[in-house]
Amino acid sequence: MMTKIWTRLVFTAPALALLSSSLLEAATAFSDLNIDAAVEKVLGKNELFDFETLQLTDDVLANLKDAGFGDEALSLFSPKSKPVKRQVVAKPPCKIYPGDATWPSGAIWRLFNVLLGGALIRTVPEASLCYPEWQIEHPTSIRSILFQGMTCMPPNYTAGFLGNTVNCSIGGFPEHSVNVSTIAQIQLAVNIARELNIRLVIKNTAHDFGAKSAGKGGLNLWTHYLKDYKFYSNYQTDTYSGPAFKLAAGVQVFEANEWAKQHNVTLHLLTLFPSVGFIGGYIQGGGHSPLTSIYGMAADHVLSIQLGVVTSMVVKVFPQLNITTMTYNVTTGGNFTHDKFWAMQRAYVDEFERLADLGYYSYYRIRHLGGEITHDVTSMVAPNTSEAGFRAALAPLFQKWADIGVPFQPVIRESDNYSDAWLAAFPHEGVFDEGANIILFNMRNPPGSELTDNAVNPAWRKMLMFAIMFVTWNVTDSTQHVTRLLRNLTYEWNPRWKTLTPTSGTYMPESDYIEPNWQESFHGSKYPRLLEIKKRWDPESVSYATNTVGSEEWMLGDTIMGHLPSQNSKLCRK
Ligand SMILES: Cc1cc2nc3c(=O)[nH]c(=O)nc-3n(C[C@H](O)[C@H](O)[C@H](O)COP(=O)(O)OP(=O)(O)OC[C@H]3O[C@@H](n4cnc5c(N)ncnc54)[C@H](O)[C@@H]3O)c2cc1C
Ligand SMILES: *[C@@H]1O[C@H](CO)[C@@H](O)[C@H](O)[C@H]1NC(C)=O
Ligand SMILES: *[C@@H]1O[C@H](CO)[C@@H](O)[C@H](O)[C@H]1NC(C)=O
Ligand SMILES: *[C@@H]1O[C@H](CO)[C@@H](O)[C@H](O)[C@H]1NC(C)=O
Ligand SMILES: *[C@@H]1O[C@H](CO)[C@@H](O)[C@H](O)[C@H]1NC(C)=O
Ligand SMILES: *[C@@H]1O[C@H](CO)[C@@H](O)[C@H](O)[C@H]1NC(C)=O
Ligand SMILES: *[C@@H]1O[C@H](CO)[C@@H](O)[C@H](O)[C@H]1NC(C)=O
Ligand SMILES: *[C@@H]1O[C@H](CO)[C@@H](O)[C@H](O)[C@H]1NC(C)=O
Ligand SMILES: *[C@@H]1O[C@H](CO)[C@@H](O)[C@H](O)[C@H]1NC(C)=O
Ligand SMILES: *[C@@H]1O[C@H](CO)[C@@H](O)[C@H](O)[C@H]1NC(C)=O
Ligand SMILES: *[C@@H]1O[C@H](CO)[C@@H](O)[C@H](O)[C@H]1NC(C)=O
Ligand SMILES: *[C@@H]1O[C@H](CO)[C@@H](O)[C@H](O)[C@H]1NC(C)=O
Repeated sequence: MMTKIWTRLVFTAPALALLSSSLLEAATAFSDLNIDAAVEKVLGKNELFDFETLQLTDDVLANLKDAGFGDEALSLFSPKSKPVKRQVVAKPPCKIYPGDATWPSGAIWRLFNVLLGGALIRTVPEASLCYPEWQIEHPTSIRSILFQGMTCMPPNYTAGFLGNTVNCSIGGFPEHSVNVSTIAQIQLAVNIARELNIRLVIKNTAHDFGAKSAGKGGLNLWTHYLKDYKFYSNYQTDTYSGPAFKLAAGVQVFEANEWAKQHNVTLHLLTLFPSVGFIGGYIQGGGHSPLTSIYGMAADHVLSIQLGVVTSMVVKVFPQLNITTMTYNVTTGGNFTHDKFWAMQRAYVDEFERLADLGYYSYYRIRHLGGEITHDVTSMVAPNTSEAGFRAALAPLFQKWADIGVPFQPVIRESDNYSDAWLAAFPHEGVFDEGANIILFNMRNPPGSELTDNAVNPAWRKMLMFAIMFVTWNVTDSTQHVTRLLRNLTYEWNPRWKTLTPTSGTYMPESDYIEPNWQESFHGSKYPRLLEIKKRWDPESVSYATNTVGSEEWMLGDTIMGHLPSQNSKLCRK
């Protein structure tokens, strides 16, 4: 039986002409593999998306050795979902890079492209800062451009700390990307990355705060075009029976939300940022949303996951609920003084526990605006709550704010209990006054969430607030100023929060790029088991991203501003 990708292979004559006859033989040998047999054997009665049925068989993997892609060990990443014990002969000190003697020749890349059905893209970096959302449609552009090395900035975006805005080079972007549309392509890429010792990168939307989709010299699996979905009105597992969605790895929040609406169900989606991926870093990182206070984390509702490089997940869905939301903003000025502003914040934080227990969620920001402070709530969300119920629940807070003199809807409520919750929430206005901006989320994980047997950071299970501190600067600011700002964030201000919340943690997908002691902060007591699993399934560290499980074995050679590991440098074993 012939399948699409191999059929295409046979017809890519110009590329094939570049290959030696032995490579050609190896390549054409793939054209008669029996995909169906492999799929049935491995995946049993699980329903697959069409793109997931295109997989390599063990025979094909074995053939690859003749094509110069490695040895029999290629079958390590076979569809058999079991780690294969394999003799690791030698661990090369570094990944390989263009210019290294062992970097694959053009012929190898051309063959690889043929095997992939033409899905290989050589990186052409673009000055993506001009087009904030456009980065998603580009195979390698990322949001956290600072860590890439800023080697291709928009022309005339000149300034102090940016340095080189004259030339444009690939820098910390991966060298090649696979525009993934089948599992077979992922299998090929993982095998080749391992056998040729190339840094493997996965990019979905590149929204991760820590530039996890970057990496000099890398081979990037670009999952953006994996868009399928399936709705099950009654999905059955040993422990669940009810409605569910199967969603492919490239699905973004806005798409999933549309499908949920069509099927009259609710998905555990963050609602504010429609372009974020759902199946990638969001669920795999834990996933907090406006529904967290009633349903816990998005990861708590996963029913199945396809592969290690995830191609799809089946997730539970919930009935549609009435939801009340509120937005507002206030800015200091006139008789609304800074003191009144902080009194307003104190009153709010005093309500965190009660509001979260009602199932409510808040997302808000506190930012510098010249000499003034601006605070915007871009939503308080009350799931399963009527407007009347919401108003009744908020009445005491509104009253307190009116009493303080907040330019909002007034009323009064006295309280001079500076509770533990408050201390944990706003320990030091000083941090703000010294230059930080703050994003805050008020939510909880409902009782019982802590019993879910997954890798969610245990710190989530007892939280009432998730806080993000950030700094901003102008492009014309000096390197010295920006460096001091960034160092303050990590080494001056963050430790103060930690001192006041000693048993807490943080959220990997939205964290400091150089979070000290990240294993504890991101994973708490779950870390040893995660590391053990990582070592068992990936003994050669094919999978690496900065500050992910097992990454402590590696280091990036250069830094940006003297202390930020640069993705534009070689990745070597420590
Ligand atoms: C504006 C904005 C708002 C946000 N709001 C929220 C929020 O409300 N709640 C919340 O929980 N998070 C939020 N986040 C954080 C978001 O969850 C993370 O940025 C997340 O990492 C994005 O995942 P991605 O797959 O879209 O992006 P990417 O950066 O492409 O991927 C993130 C990580 O996941 C890995 N990955 C991606 N796809 C796969 C795959 N198929 N298989 C294996 N690994 C994969 C990547 O290698 C990378 O390490 C927000 C981020 C932004 C930028
Ligand atoms: C950008 O810089 C170049 C070279 O200095 C100059 O010729 C050009 O006019 C500038 N463009 C803009 C839009 O400022
Ligand atoms: C830009 O590249 C050219 C040619 O490689 C080099 O001579 C020049 O020094 C580079 N400029 C900067 C600012 O790096
Ligand atoms: C990637 O593949 C999709 C189809 O899966 C196609 O629509 C898109 O144009 C491709 N993108 C690039 C940059 O090749
Ligand atoms: C949607 O689901 C809700 C709750 O399950 C139900 O009350 C409502 O009738 C449904 N609406 C439609 C249009 O099916
Ligand atoms: C949900 O809101 C609608 C109006 O938007 C209302 O008619 C309905 O009664 C509400 N349902 C519940 C359960 O409160
Ligand atoms: C602040 O709220 C007012 C209405 O109260 C609205 O008109 C304005 O657009 C909001 N500003 C911001 C920055 O959200
Ligand atoms: C929604 O509210 C109703 C009535 O108060 C309650 O019975 C139900 O359990 C709530 N649903 C959720 C998901 O909290
Ligand atoms: C603040 O000033 C406004 C007019 O700008 C006034 O209406 C309000 O009463 C004043 N509030 C307090 C608490 O003084
Ligand atoms: C303050 O409030 C917290 C919880 O909100 C409570 O545990 C504590 O006992 C209170 N302290 C005082 C002095 O009232
Ligand atoms: C950037 O520069 C403008 C104009 O000089 C200034 O008003 C603003 O406060 C600066 N922003 C930051 C974050 O330094
Ligand atoms: C760094 O923090 C210190 C105090 O912690 C403050 O005095 C200084 O202004 C900050 N510098 C910058 C550039 O933010």
